Amino acid sequence: MNVARPRRPRLVAGNWKMNKTVPEAEALARALVERAAQRPAAQVLLCPPFTALGAVRGLLAQSPLMLGAQNLHPEASGSYTGEVSGPMLITAGCRWVIVGHSERRQLLGEDDALVARKLRAALRAELTPIVCVGETLAERERDETVKVLERQVGIAFEGLDRAAACASVIAYEPVWAIGTGRVATAAQAVSAHRRIRATLDRVIGAGIGGDVTILYGGSVSPSNAAELFAEHEIDGALVGGASLDAGSFWSIVEAA
Ligand code: PGA
Repeated sequence: MNVARPRRPRLVAGNWKMNKTVPEAEALARALVERAAQRPAAQVLLCPPFTALGAVRGLLAQSPLMLGAQNLHPEASGSYTGEVSGPMLITAGCRWVIVGHSERRQLLGEDDALVARKLRAALRAELTPIVCVGETLAERERDETVKVLERQVGIAFEGLDRAAACASVIAYEPVWAIGTGRVATAAQAVSAHRRIRATLDRVIGAGIGGDVTILYGGSVSPSNAAELFAEHEIDGALVGGASLDAGSFWSIVEAA
């Protein structure tokens, strides 16, 4: 008999990146809080820039919308000018943090070892990490997608226990799809998600992969969200560009 697994919770996260001044962030948060009054079926997370966390936190107080940051430093405190730590984010009202986004890997030199330290720092601070993985276009063309995903997931999660893995979320974000308007096909995303789950089974323990929430990210928009979310493998989305407009972000939330 085919026993259906309980579905993993649906999550739609908006990564605002380096966009929105404080007043702009407040306006977007207000517009989303208004829409959230109808209680969306999916969990919804907003990740504004650090400077807007305080203002957005105040606006989200009575709503189901959750607050997260886009990055953290691996240490809890110290002489790291310009950096922000996990304990700081928790006391700023965040429950989530994005770790190892490809823009940080590519533009700011974050390697797999640093991403692994940040993942542990997030878990220590009791933040839910969203660990981003994904291949570049050159890697896909060289047929290295599987190798890249296994390496990124393997190094990030090696040595963690089941509880830590299940307290984490992974976002599969093919670098060639981010901000390009070129979304991965549902089949490409499903195959990557399966590989990520298999890697978790190998490095942490059998069955773990199926319990971890895996988001797809890269040019998710109101026009392609429903097709992606129709796949059981795809537990939600990490949305960049389309999260900057309340209407388009909310259409994605409603599709989830
Ligand atoms: P995009 O960005 O939706 O603008 O492609 C996604 C991301 O970088 O998380």
